[in-house]
Amino acid sequence: MQLKTTAEVWGSVAKFLHWSIAILVILMMIGGKTMGDLPNGPDKMWVYSMHKSMGLTILALMLLRLVWRLFDPRPAAPPGLGKLARTASRTVHASFYVLLIVMPISGWLYNSASNFPLKWFGLFSVPALSGPDKELKHFAHEVHETVFLIILGVLVLHVAAALKHHFIDRDSVLRRMLPFVRPRSGDTR
Ligand code: HEM
Repeated sequence: MQLKTTAEVWGSVAKFLHWSIAILVILMMIGGKTMGDLPNGPDKMWVYSMHKSMGLTILALMLLRLVWRLFDPRPAAPPGLGKLARTASRTVHASFYVLLIVMPISGWLYNSASNFPLKWFGLFSVPALSGPDKELKHFAHEVHETVFLIILGVLVLHVAAALKHHFIDRDSVLRRMLPFVRPRSGDTR
Protein backbone atom coordinates (compact mmCIF):
# COMPACT_ATOMS: atom_id res chain seq x y z
CA MET A 1 0.00 0.00 0.00
CA GLN A 2 1.44 3.31 -1.13
CA LEU A 3 0.73 5.92 1.59
CA LYS A 4 2.11 8.89 -0.31
CA THR A 5 1.02 10.17 -3.70
CA THR A 6 3.34 9.55 -6.65
CA ALA A 7 3.45 11.16 -10.10
CA GLU A 8 1.10 8.37 -11.33
CA VAL A 9 -1.38 7.71 -8.55
CA TRP A 10 -2.86 9.25 -5.40
CA GLY A 11 -1.55 7.71 -2.17
CA SER A 12 -3.86 5.75 0.13
CA VAL A 13 -4.09 8.56 2.72
CA ALA A 14 -5.29 11.03 0.06
CA LYS A 15 -7.72 8.41 -1.33
CA PHE A 16 -9.10 7.61 2.13
CA LEU A 17 -9.63 11.31 2.90
CA HIS A 18 -11.18 11.96 -0.53
CA TRP A 19 -13.74 9.12 -0.38
CA SER A 20 -14.61 9.35 3.30
CA ILE A 21 -15.25 13.09 2.99
CA ALA A 22 -17.18 12.60 -0.29
CA ILE A 23 -19.52 9.99 1.28
CA LEU A 24 -20.06 12.06 4.43
CA VAL A 25 -20.73 15.27 2.46
CA ILE A 26 -23.33 13.58 0.22
CA LEU A 27 -25.08 12.06 3.26
CA MET A 28 -24.98 15.46 5.00
CA MET A 29 -26.43 17.30 2.02
CA ILE A 30 -29.33 14.85 1.72
CA GLY A 31 -29.84 14.68 5.51
CA GLY A 32 -29.57 18.46 5.98
CA LYS A 33 -32.23 19.10 3.33
CA THR A 34 -34.68 16.53 4.71
CA MET A 35 -34.22 16.57 8.51
CA GLY A 36 -36.30 19.75 8.97
CA ASP A 37 -39.42 17.88 7.71
CA LEU A 38 -39.19 15.12 10.33
CA PRO A 39 -41.91 15.11 13.00
CA ASN A 40 -40.76 16.70 16.25
CA GLY A 41 -39.54 14.19 18.83
CA PRO A 42 -36.48 12.28 19.99
CA ASP A 43 -35.80 10.79 16.54
CA LYS A 44 -35.56 14.25 15.01
CA MET A 45 -33.27 15.39 17.82
CA TRP A 46 -31.07 12.34 17.18
CA VAL A 47 -30.86 13.11 13.44
CA TYR A 48 -29.92 16.73 14.19
CA SER A 49 -27.25 15.70 16.65
CA MET A 50 -25.82 13.19 14.11
CA HIS A 51 -25.81 15.96 11.50
CA LYS A 52 -23.81 18.21 13.80
CA SER A 53 -21.35 15.48 14.87
CA MET A 54 -20.78 14.29 11.30
CA GLY A 55 -20.35 17.92 10.20
CA LEU A 56 -17.67 18.48 12.83
CA THR A 57 -16.01 15.24 11.69
CA ILE A 58 -15.92 16.60 8.12
CA LEU A 59 -14.29 19.78 9.44
CA ALA A 60 -11.59 17.73 11.23
CA LEU A 61 -11.02 15.55 8.13
CA MET A 62 -10.80 18.66 5.90
CA LEU A 63 -8.19 20.27 8.17
CA LEU A 64 -6.24 17.00 8.16
CA ARG A 65 -6.56 16.87 4.38
CA LEU A 66 -5.30 20.43 4.05
CA VAL A 67 -2.23 19.69 6.18
CA TRP A 68 -1.60 16.37 4.37
CA ARG A 69 -1.88 18.11 0.99
CA LEU A 70 0.95 20.49 1.94
CA PHE A 71 3.30 17.48 2.26
CA ASP A 72 1.75 15.32 -0.43
CA PRO A 73 1.53 17.12 -3.78
CA ARG A 74 -0.98 16.00 -6.43
CA PRO A 75 0.00 13.58 -9.23
CA ALA A 76 1.11 15.05 -12.55
CA ALA A 77 -1.58 16.36 -14.90
CA PRO A 78 -2.37 14.00 -17.81
CA PRO A 79 -0.32 14.84 -20.88
CA GLY A 80 -2.15 17.05 -23.33
CA LEU A 81 -4.37 18.68 -20.71
CA GLY A 82 -4.80 22.30 -21.79
CA LYS A 83 -4.01 25.32 -19.66
CA LEU A 84 -7.71 26.20 -19.29
CA ALA A 85 -8.65 22.70 -18.11
CA ARG A 86 -5.73 22.71 -15.68
CA THR A 87 -6.81 26.08 -14.22
CA ALA A 88 -10.44 24.94 -14.02
CA SER A 89 -9.42 21.78 -12.18
CA ARG A 90 -7.26 23.67 -9.68
CA THR A 91 -10.04 26.22 -9.09
CA VAL A 92 -12.64 23.51 -8.44
CA HIS A 93 -10.32 21.67 -6.04
CA ALA A 94 -9.34 24.86 -4.18
CA SER A 95 -13.00 25.86 -3.86
CA PHE A 96 -13.80 22.48 -2.30
CA TYR A 97 -11.22 23.15 0.41
CA VAL A 98 -12.73 26.57 1.16
CA LEU A 99 -16.40 25.49 0.91
CA LEU A 100 -16.01 22.33 2.97
CA ILE A 101 -14.34 24.30 5.75
CA VAL A 102 -16.82 27.22 5.65
CA MET A 103 -19.85 24.85 5.58
CA PRO A 104 -19.26 23.10 8.94
CA ILE A 105 -18.04 26.33 10.58
CA SER A 106 -21.25 28.14 9.53
CA GLY A 107 -23.32 25.23 10.96
CA TRP A 108 -21.30 25.34 14.18
CA LEU A 109 -21.73 29.14 14.36
CA TYR A 110 -25.49 28.84 13.70
CA ASN A 111 -25.76 26.24 16.45
CA SER A 112 -23.76 28.44 18.87
CA ALA A 113 -25.70 31.65 18.12
CA SER A 114 -28.97 29.67 18.54
CA ASN A 115 -27.71 28.55 21.98
CA PHE A 116 -28.20 24.87 21.11
CA PRO A 117 -26.04 22.31 22.97
CA LEU A 118 -23.32 20.53 20.99
CA LYS A 119 -21.87 17.13 21.90
CA TRP A 120 -19.71 15.17 19.46
CA PHE A 121 -21.54 11.82 19.09
CA GLY A 122 -22.65 12.25 22.72
CA LEU A 123 -19.05 11.79 23.85
CA PHE A 124 -17.82 15.27 24.74
CA SER A 125 -19.11 18.84 24.71
CA VAL A 126 -17.86 21.09 21.94
CA PRO A 127 -17.40 24.76 22.95
CA ALA A 128 -19.71 27.36 21.41
CA LEU A 129 -18.20 29.78 18.88
CA SER A 130 -20.41 32.63 20.18
CA GLY A 131 -23.02 33.45 22.75
CA PRO A 132 -26.73 33.61 21.80
CA ASP A 133 -27.08 36.20 19.03
CA LYS A 134 -30.14 36.60 16.78
CA GLU A 135 -28.40 38.48 13.95
CA LEU A 136 -25.41 36.17 13.90
CA LYS A 137 -27.78 33.18 13.91
CA HIS A 138 -29.57 34.57 10.85
CA PHE A 139 -26.28 35.33 9.07
CA ALA A 140 -24.80 31.86 9.78
CA HIS A 141 -28.01 30.21 8.56
CA GLU A 142 -27.86 32.20 5.30
CA VAL A 143 -24.22 31.16 4.81
CA HIS A 144 -25.07 27.49 5.53
CA GLU A 145 -27.89 27.53 2.95
CA THR A 146 -25.96 29.46 0.28
CA VAL A 147 -22.78 27.42 0.60
CA PHE A 148 -24.91 24.27 0.25
CA LEU A 149 -26.04 25.47 -3.20
CA ILE A 150 -22.50 26.40 -4.23
CA ILE A 151 -21.18 22.99 -3.10
CA LEU A 152 -23.92 21.34 -5.14
CA GLY A 153 -22.84 23.25 -8.27
CA VAL A 154 -19.13 22.56 -7.74
CA LEU A 155 -19.88 18.88 -7.07
CA VAL A 156 -21.76 18.55 -10.38
CA LEU A 157 -18.79 20.11 -12.24
CA HIS A 158 -16.33 17.88 -10.38
CA VAL A 159 -18.21 14.63 -11.13
CA ALA A 160 -18.84 15.65 -14.75
CA ALA A 161 -15.12 16.36 -15.23
CA ALA A 162 -14.13 13.00 -13.66
CA LEU A 163 -16.55 11.14 -15.98
CA LYS A 164 -15.34 13.08 -19.02
CA HIS A 165 -11.73 12.15 -18.23
CA HIS A 166 -12.70 8.50 -17.86
CA PHE A 167 -15.12 7.95 -20.74
CA ILE A 168 -14.18 10.60 -23.32
CA ASP A 169 -10.50 11.45 -22.79
CA ARG A 170 -9.86 7.88 -21.57
CA ASP A 171 -7.03 8.99 -19.32
CA SER A 172 -6.14 7.81 -15.80
CA VAL A 173 -7.52 10.79 -13.85
CA LEU A 174 -10.49 8.94 -12.31
CA ARG A 175 -8.77 5.57 -12.07
CA ARG A 176 -5.84 6.92 -10.09
CA MET A 177 -8.21 8.18 -7.36
CA LEU A 178 -10.27 4.95 -7.13
CA PRO A 179 -9.64 2.78 -4.07
CA PHE A 180 -7.98 -0.61 -4.59
CA VAL A 181 -7.06 0.25 -8.18
CA ARG A 182 -3.43 0.16 -9.28
CA PRO A 183 -2.18 2.27 -12.20
CA ARG A 184 -2.15 0.25 -15.43
CA SER A 185 1.19 -0.26 -17.12
CA GLY A 186 1.43 2.50 -19.69
CA ASP A 187 -0.32 4.99 -17.38
CA THR A 188 2.52 7.42 -17.37
CA ARG A 189 0.25 10.07 -15.86
C1 HEM B 1 -19.82 19.78 5.48
C2 HEM B 1 -20.61 19.80 6.53
C3 HEM B 1 -22.08 20.11 6.47
C4 HEM B 1 -22.97 19.98 5.42
C5 HEM B 1 -22.69 19.49 4.00
C6 HEM B 1 -24.27 20.45 5.91
C7 HEM B 1 -25.42 20.50 5.16
C8 HEM B 1 -26.61 21.07 5.58
C9 HEM B 1 -27.75 21.33 4.73
C10 HEM B 1 -27.85 21.03 3.23
C11 HEM B 1 -28.71 21.89 5.50
C12 HEM B 1 -30.08 22.38 5.02
C13 HEM B 1 -29.92 23.87 4.68
C14 HEM B 1 -31.14 24.39 3.96
O1 HEM B 1 -32.20 24.37 4.55
O2 HEM B 1 -30.99 24.81 2.81
C15 HEM B 1 -28.21 21.95 6.85
C16 HEM B 1 -28.94 22.44 7.94
C17 HEM B 1 -28.43 22.50 9.24
N1 HEM B 1 -27.13 22.25 9.63
FE1 HEM B 1 -25.67 21.55 8.46
N2 HEM B 1 -24.14 20.81 7.23
C18 HEM B 1 -22.84 20.64 7.61
C19 HEM B 1 -22.29 20.88 8.86
C20 HEM B 1 -23.00 21.28 9.98
C21 HEM B 1 -22.46 21.45 11.33
C22 HEM B 1 -20.99 21.20 11.72
C23 HEM B 1 -23.48 21.86 12.13
C24 HEM B 1 -23.47 22.18 13.59
C25 HEM B 1 -22.46 21.94 14.42
C26 HEM B 1 -24.67 21.96 11.30
C27 HEM B 1 -25.91 22.34 11.76
C28 HEM B 1 -27.04 22.46 10.99
C29 HEM B 1 -28.35 22.84 11.51
C30 HEM B 1 -28.68 23.12 12.96
C31 HEM B 1 -29.22 22.86 10.41
C32 HEM B 1 -30.72 23.17 10.41
C33 HEM B 1 -30.95 24.62 10.13
C34 HEM B 1 -32.45 24.89 10.27
O3 HEM B 1 -33.00 24.45 11.26
O4 HEM B 1 -33.00 25.51 9.36
N3 HEM B 1 -24.35 21.61 10.01
N4 HEM B 1 -26.93 21.47 6.87
